[in-house]
Amino acid sequence: MNATALPATPEPPSDGLAPVYAQYPLEVASAEGVWLIGARGERVLDLYGGHAVAALGYGHRGWTEALTAQARACQFQTNALPMPIRARAARRLLDFSGLDFASVFLVSSGAEANENALRLALRMTSRPQVAALEGGFHGRTAAASAVTWGSEAWYGFPHKPFDVTFLPRGELAAVDAQVTERTAAVIVEPVQGLAGAVDLGAEYLAALRRRCDQVGALLIFDEVQCGFGRIGAPFAATLYGVMPDMITTAKALGNGFPVAALLTSAKVSATLRVGLLGTTYGGGPMACATVLAAVDAIESEGLLENVRRVSAYIRSTCVVGPVTATQGEGFLLGLRTSRPAKQIQAQLLQRGILAGGANDPNVVRLLPPFILKEEHVDLLRNALSDL
Ligand SMILES: Cc1ncc(COP(=O)(O)O)c(C=O)c1O
Repeated sequence: MNATALPATPEPPSDGLAPVYAQYPLEVASAEGVWLIGARGERVLDLYGGHAVAALGYGHRGWTEALTAQARACQFQTNALPMPIRARAARRLLDFSGLDFASVFLVSSGAEANENALRLALRMTSRPQVAALEGGFHGRTAAASAVTWGSEAWYGFPHKPFDVTFLPRGELAAVDAQVTERTAAVIVEPVQGLAGAVDLGAEYLAALRRRCDQVGALLIFDEVQCGFGRIGAPFAATLYGVMPDMITTAKALGNGFPVAALLTSAKVSATLRVGLLGTTYGGGPMACATVLAAVDAIESEGLLENVRRVSAYIRSTCVVGPVTATQGEGFLLGLRTSRPAKQIQAQLLQRGILAGGANDPNVVRLLPPFILKEEHVDLLRNALSDL
């Protein structure tokens, strides 16, 4: 790879795929553990995890066997036909959360989970406005992108489906001023992903909870990226001790199989009735098998503990070369860089390490599989020291 090729080259694909993603100069042929194997046999350490998805790494035996077994047994059935594996997946996810949620609605993508969460909040409160956070990303569907910061650049719909107010991060006075009796819900990523691994912290999240209670609004944690173990706890709600009315989660949940979930409190669950929500693929048995396998692996392999330990190791060893500081939590980490992050990404990729970018041009984002070890971090530290 040549030195001037940036990880995201300006050239979109010209092979029949919609030209909407700039392409990294790395063609993946296969993968194992934390390694991607390129088309020319090159091995690349994956600190990006397919955008936070490949939580168990590649070729995980338990996950692969669970998916294969379910494909053989029955690859799909509608939610209208009960299947024990679906109920088991929901119960296991509720137990894994360690939180007092009453039910789970299984869908196929993070945006779909957020779309449903927002719909429920607007229906429950009959209010016209949703508050979201500056820097937040919630997906590409109509409601999810309406609450996404900066989505005007690509929104496309003539109107947003509700009023939206954006809260400046960390400013408590703005929470009181902007979250009012007009507000149906506050939606927030407790650790913002695309913004560059920005941890909003327990105090701010607790302030959102208090204000929602004061004005009768619902609190939605979008844990599509930061949840399901990525920050070294089942969810940010668990880590910070702040109970939202709903959590949405996806990405790590299926380790690559498209599955997402909306967890709802007893108060929200009490408003659900037949026909209110629906999905074709959500809750399919293969999706459920992957959720069960992912929880199994996280628990039996001590992956939350691994994430916490190796994250601390990254923070203590990788402030070298162009890295001036770290931010974020667990394996949703940002390396703050003295030079443009794109340059650092390109140079790391030349040295066989794939890292992500962020909306912040001076943050390299790390979203590695939960199985990453200290020896892999040493490779990163050595590469960074060279830059
Ligand atoms: C925090 C957050 N919410 C929602 C989404 C949308 O998820 P999906 O792409 O599965 O619709 C993303 C995707 O990156 C995300 O990071």
